[in-house]
Amino acid sequence: MPQLLIIAHLPSDNTRALAESVLRGAQSVEAVSSRLLSPFDTQPQDILDCDGLILGTTENLGYMAGATKDMFDRCYYAVIEHKQGLPMAVYIRAGHDGTGTRRAIDSITTGLRWRAVQEAMVLRGAWQDAWPQELEELGQAMAYGLEAGIF
Ligand SMILES: Cc1cc2nc3c(=O)[nH]c(=O)nc-3n(C[C@H](O)[C@H](O)[C@H](O)COP(=O)(O)O)c2cc1C
Repeated sequence: MPQLLIIAHLPSDNTRALAESVLRGAQSVEAVSSRLLSPFDTQPQDILDCDGLILGTTENLGYMAGATKDMFDRCYYAVIEHKQGLPMAVYIRAGHDGTGTRRAIDSITTGLRWRAVQEAMVLRGAWQDAWPQELEELGQAMAYGLEAGIF
């Protein structure tokens, strides 16, 4: 069964709601095994074991969350030779910007040769009630793509 890994940093009720929406969408596809991990708990083996990845992070101080960067720092060299072409999607919760985080993640994932299946979603500014639905659709689309083998 294809494995979809969601790595999401959850420092607030809003970011938890977003990640749970992604997971709900992904788990609606029963032929794919989907799980949610904090970047703090993510080990290289979790990435090695997955067939697709959704990464969610906040922007803090113009960059991805330290937790997300720490995950990359610990996992980068352990996975680089093994996960080239990994299909992935990114969403960024940013109070007012998001550009620095998008650029940095783009640079790191380009180095890893991961394959973005869509442009990073930047959820910028005041909370919008449409976001959970959009992220549920992201999780579901990613899982359907893995099930169908189109990624
Ligand atoms: C220390 C700190 C630094 C932050 N820096 C940025 C920033 O540089 N750019 C930005 O867009 N948002 C920034 N934010 C806002 C966070 O992205 C936002 O609080 C987080 O995504 C959670 O959003 P929520 O209010 O929907 O829970 C910062 C928040 C904190 C606590």
